[in-house]
Amino acid sequence: MKLGVNIDHVATLRNARGGVEPNVLEAAKICIANGADSITTHLREDRRHIKDEDVERIRKELDTKLNLEMAMTDEMQKIALTLKPDAVCIVPEKRQELTTEGGLDISGQLERGIKFIRPLVDAGIEVSLFIDPDMSQVSAAYKTGAQFIELHTGTYSNTYGTDREVRAFRDLCKSTEFAHNLGLKVNAGHGLNYENVIRMNEIDGLYELNIGHSIISRAIFVGLPQAVREMKEIIE
Ligand code: PXP
Repeated sequence: MKLGVNIDHVATLRNARGGVEPNVLEAAKICIANGADSITTHLREDRRHIKDEDVERIRKELDTKLNLEMAMTDEMQKIALTLKPDAVCIVPEKRQELTTEGGLDISGQLERGIKFIRPLVDAGIEVSLFIDPDMSQVSAAYKTGAQFIELHTGTYSNTYGTDREVRAFRDLCKSTEFAHNLGLKVNAGHGLNYENVIRMNEIDGLYELNIGHSIISRAIFVGLPQAVREMKEIIE
């Protein structure tokens, strides 16, 4: 399984003082040097962490896979078509949320989704939709022409170690299998940490995990190189 490291929180820390430290580009380089297969950044409408200059510099100065998380807005589509990241992951976005809450409701806006995604696919960008592990959402994601889905692991992560984990994990397995049968590639992420991530190895054929908070948190104690290496070892 591949590891995409989400470095948004490096930018959150930098923005706390408004200066340049910690350097986001440097963080991306360290992640790649220590086993990350791609760098994920979420360019939010409010630019609360990652800023336009960050993604532009990563794109220009790093020869590595860039996965741009973004909302389904005209502004973001324009940015993606100019920046040409290797991949985009379309996420729902609410102004007041602390982090992405819940998956994209693509089945409720299929026509809009198709129109939004087609130019991105035509530009050679891999498109992924961040959805809940729900068959109707998987089915709608397939109809948009996106090549990937990213399954939201938030419910699994939040219920890990409780009675409800069984059902949340089963939903991830069933959605992955259904998506594979349709020919979609399947990523997963949100709320994964060094403990609950272990079970992701039980899901057949997951392509990539996107992990941010737990890695950046661990980096405070052991350093970013070790935090990335440890996660990579677990998911390999
Ligand atoms: N995948 C997506 C689509 C996300 O929005 C996020 C959070 O920004 C993540 C993965 C990573 O989640 P976490 O920071 O909880 O590891």
